Amino acid sequence: MRKCDLGLIGLAVMGKNLVLNIERHRYSVAVFNRTVERVDEFLTEEARGKNIVGTHTIEELVDALETPRKIILMVKAGKPVDDFIDKLLPYLKGGDLIIDAGNSFFKDTIRRSRYLAEKSVLYIGTGVSGGEEGALKGPSIMLGGQLGAYKLVEPIFSRIAAQVDGVPCSAYIGSDGAGHYVKMIHNGIEYGDIQLISEAYSLMRNVLGMGAKELGGTFARWNQGKLNSYLIEITADIFTKIDATGNPLVEMVLDEAAQKGTGKWASQSALDLGVPASTIAEAVFARCISAIKGERVGAAKVIKGPHEKYQGNKEDLLEAIKQALYAAKICSYAQGFSLMREAAREYSWHLDLGRISMIWRGGCIIRAKFLHKINEAFQREPNLSNLLLDPYFKEVVEKAQDKWRKVVIVATELGIPVPGFTSALTYFDSYRTARLPANLIQAQRDYFGAHTYRRIDKEGIFHTEWMVKDRPEIRMD
Ligand code: 6PG
Repeated sequence: MRKCDLGLIGLAVMGKNLVLNIERHRYSVAVFNRTVERVDEFLTEEARGKNIVGTHTIEELVDALETPRKIILMVKAGKPVDDFIDKLLPYLKGGDLIIDAGNSFFKDTIRRSRYLAEKSVLYIGTGVSGGEEGALKGPSIMLGGQLGAYKLVEPIFSRIAAQVDGVPCSAYIGSDGAGHYVKMIHNGIEYGDIQLISEAYSLMRNVLGMGAKELGGTFARWNQGKLNSYLIEITADIFTKIDATGNPLVEMVLDEAAQKGTGKWASQSALDLGVPASTIAEAVFARCISAIKGERVGAAKVIKGPHEKYQGNKEDLLEAIKQALYAAKICSYAQGFSLMREAAREYSWHLDLGRISMIWRGGCIIRAKFLHKINEAFQREPNLSNLLLDPYFKEVVEKAQDKWRKVVIVATELGIPVPGFTSALTYFDSYRTARLPANLIQAQRDYFGAHTYRRIDKEGIFHTEWMVKDRPEIRMD
């Protein structure tokens, strides 16, 4: 029997859809799942009549594959990935390739790459974005690993990825954990976008009194302009859904946001690398505070906020919210791209930030027209240290800032939480401030802990006995 081009382990929805996508592009796939009944179900249902071979053991799966074998793992991140690697290893030969296509933590991917390299087995950790539909119709694919390993599967991934203007949304990102790192940042940015959109909704609903129909219409209109993106598009659609109670379904959904961890990882990486990705981290914390619903309901009964109502013009505020959303979004992306830039230095990756923005234009959750602008910025200046310094983004944010500030003022006066809008504005203001009050932080640290400070007028490291009168400053280096 002819051997299959590819193997895949893990037949949950993402795995099944990826197999169907690969098969549609004329590759044969052998599949395996830990609960083997799922293999048979898949074969008699979605995979019926297709070039898909079911297997019931790992050995059978490996045997069914053309050498060098290429096996995709589409299993839960964490231990299941290690377990399957160890189950596969006894059957693999040098030059075979394992591809982890789940949302793995990039440091696990680095560890696994080293482990498998010792055994001469190739390893790719790849981000796959686009949810169930993307996996089936064309996701955005961020591959990390040995370049030689990438070359083995490049034609397959280029074909199954989303295509924008004839260009596949799939790319080689860099060695070991680079692909999963970039996917993690994609998700951090996704958290930021979702948070900012939900804050816009909150102001439109609670300050301007807009109902679902008007909200849906407004987001649909915004989707025609600069804000055009998948997340704005689905937001418009969400407001059109009426449930069995006759209410808009979204209003019946419990306001406790869940999370699987990739936004948290992105924020942790920002803290590890000392990169101010505050809007992304705020989006994670916003989900955390939403999750303590019981406490919030209790607090709402006893802690009072302002009582005022918005007295201004509705159209003005609506326009301001739109501008604030775009400006804050730019700041959130600036943070994500700065983080990737720093990670590239830290982990010795050569991340092509312009190219990364291009493979996010289609297939993935943050797909948007505006990503083209990011690519243009990196074409103009490949060493751009922050998106806010690019002429296009600088001008947009400068022009939007008055309205953006107004939104934050109105929300603050009315006591409506807008952590995304606020933290992005603070990021913008901090980034463009030549002298921050960190001098006082340094003085305090030196006062209570002799942590030393540097001076603005001369080189060196200094300490002062702040409590002792007339004690001269000491040079410590
Ligand atoms: C994607 C998504 C996908 C997943 C999110 C959800 O790119 O396709 O990002 O990976 O839907 O990770 O994450 P939370 O459950 O943490 O919101």
